[in-house]
Amino acid sequence: MLIVNDRKGVRHEYDAVEGQTLMPQLRTKKLGIIGICFGNMVCGTCHVYVEKEWLDRLPAPDELEEELLAEFPNRQENSRLTCQIEYRSDLDGIEMTVPPRG
Ligand code: FES
Repeated sequence: MLIVNDRKGVRHEYDAVEGQTLMPQLRTKKLGIIGICFGNMVCGTCHVYVEKEWLDRLPAPDELEEELLAEFPNRQENSRLTCQIEYRSDLDGIEMTVPPRG
């Protein structure tokens, strides 16, 4: 299950597909997670804030993700790109928030 807080603070819960990244699972939900570049790490429209208790369970961002995140004015230390997070069963219940427009 994925838990996403939208820009209005409304909480949404979605079933998740194991082995698939989060972006394609969320881009159709009208949350503001758009994924324009389809996971090629150039658009940043899949940016979320991952709740801190879940951050340690994720692989650290690689150099390319870090470079893109560094360009965001609304970056926080828990910023991640949903196109780079593959859903696994141990992420069941992962919670994230859609950032304000940057
Ligand atoms: S979908 Fe473009 S950076 Fe993630």
